[in-house]
Amino acid sequence: MCGIVGFTGTKQAAPVLLDGLSKLEYRGYDSAGIAVRDGESETEIIKEKGKLKNLQEMTDNGKAVKGCCGIGHTRWATHGEPSALNAHPHSSDDGNVIAVHNGIIENYQELREKLMKHGYVFHTQTDTEVAVKLIDYYYKKYAPLPIEAIARSMVRIRGSYALCVMFKDYPGEIYCARKDSPMIIGVSGEDTFVASDVPAILKYTRNVYYIGNMEIAKLEQGKATFFTIDSEEIQKPLTEIKWDAKSADKGNFEHFMLKEIYEQPNVIRETIDSVVKDGKISFDTINLTDEEMQQIEQVYIVACGSAYHVGVDLQYVMESLTSLQVRVELASEFRYRKMTLNKKSIVIVISQSGETADTLEALRSAKNQGIKTLGIVNVVGSSIAREADNVFYTQAGPEIAVATTKAYSTQLVAGYLLSLQFAKARNEIEECRYQALLEEIYTIPDKVERILEDKERLQWYSAKLINIGDAFFIGRGIDYAIGLEGSLKLKEISYIHSEAYAAGELKHGPISLIENGTLVISIATQDTLIEKTVSNMAEVKSRGAKLMAVTTAGNYFLEDTAEFTCYIPKIDPLFAGSLSVIPLQLLSYYVSIGKGFDADKPRNLAKSVTVE
Ligand code: G6P
Repeated sequence: MCGIVGFTGTKQAAPVLLDGLSKLEYRGYDSAGIAVRDGESETEIIKEKGKLKNLQEMTDNGKAVKGCCGIGHTRWATHGEPSALNAHPHSSDDGNVIAVHNGIIENYQELREKLMKHGYVFHTQTDTEVAVKLIDYYYKKYAPLPIEAIARSMVRIRGSYALCVMFKDYPGEIYCARKDSPMIIGVSGEDTFVASDVPAILKYTRNVYYIGNMEIAKLEQGKATFFTIDSEEIQKPLTEIKWDAKSADKGNFEHFMLKEIYEQPNVIRETIDSVVKDGKISFDTINLTDEEMQQIEQVYIVACGSAYHVGVDLQYVMESLTSLQVRVELASEFRYRKMTLNKKSIVIVISQSGETADTLEALRSAKNQGIKTLGIVNVVGSSIAREADNVFYTQAGPEIAVATTKAYSTQLVAGYLLSLQFAKARNEIEECRYQALLEEIYTIPDKVERILEDKERLQWYSAKLINIGDAFFIGRGIDYAIGLEGSLKLKEISYIHSEAYAAGELKHGPISLIENGTLVISIATQDTLIEKTVSNMAEVKSRGAKLMAVTTAGNYFLEDTAEFTCYIPKIDPLFAGSLSVIPLQLLSYYVSIGKGFDADKPRNLAKSVTVE
């Protein structure tokens, strides 16, 4: 969840580190720090509480710190409160070992006690200080060899980590180690970079190495060498990242979130084009054959957060199109469930980052039971992408805003294509319906564009909602799935208490909370269920609710009940979620900025949750 950047090369390191960290702020932002070394001189460590801009101001955007080798970190506190003291980098007392760390060291208390017996003193409450001093201990005890010291520490540490370490005796070198926390290494000419995520280095290079779990890397000017935990050298291929550097910039938009909302038509189109050729879906690149799809009886869709909401929507779509049994599971629950999975099943994990700890573990537990797995993933080369049997890459490009929009939309469309292909491979859909639905999917980008063109009305209505205390989203079927996502968006960036309910559940509790002025947003796009939802709207209206509706063009009768109605273009109801979610994203965004919040960086949240 924290962000790591490291650099060694011919440029001044501090500006590169600060620039990289600014691209990673979405991973955590309660404090930040850098350590930079100029040749053989002492390493300078500067750290500060709060957002990165404090550090940028203290160092004149890095210009005040000299040296071509350094490491940096933006923190999202786990052990120890956010403070300058607890901020990374951390150092051994004699400055022999300096490191930044992402992850959680589970046995840090035990290691700390061991080190205290050997005379180490601790100044912070962080688990990272323990890692630094453990590496220092092994370095001094056995031999002054960085790889050896790190490897011995890795054997002792339980938990997850991405570590970047500088040793006093090895100027110009950075050592990295990883277990279950993301980290990539980039090389460009004489410059070598390391970062938790691609956007941090995209400006400088697109050529990256993926460091594997329990591997160690040594970075020098223009060079990266990899080792196993037994210190044996390993060769790795350089991979070219296709993402455009501009896609990790805000451009003319005030926030990444708004920019990403506007990118949706394009990235949805690219996701469709990645698997549809000559009017047919082809999963050649995903490596999933029709025969395999025919064998499957049960589908488990497993994910966290918004990706889980995609799963809820896809459950309805897949069950409508095929005879498959579909279950959607929260990854954090699924991984600890003691259940025997049907051997003829597939576990589909959905993840933008490909690094969410719970989703990754859920994938591993399915694989341990010998179940086939498929990842719907955005980040190429991420852990889930590398470990899943099959990968369907969404084409969202880098998503920076913490609250997902474009990744969500591409996941949804990837799921439609998957469902449709399952139906086709299993002979459960007639050719003309298959073609008609494929054509409907093709209309989604243009229809999203039309909704975006009408954003002023939503902006106007959002201004009326900034003092709302509570919100409820209601809907049935796919509309319920979209309500879940709309509600999450609103609460995560505007801090308004919000819940989503299947409309039929209203009478089983939540209706008792409706009072004068409570906001109820009803999603009503499913033709066969709309009348029932309208009755639910009337019920809450009569109890004083302020009602907004999202529905399909033509359903003008909803205006009799709702005070504000937002229309989406007509589309097959199976795919309405791709359209009805757009006004809800815009609404949340405008409420958030109307309340004066930073929509890109909601408090306490991180984009990529790589710890439990
Ligand atoms: C965080 C993000 C969400 C995301 C969820 C799952 O909570 O803020 O936007 O849906 O993690 O992340 P993943 O990378 O697995 O899709």
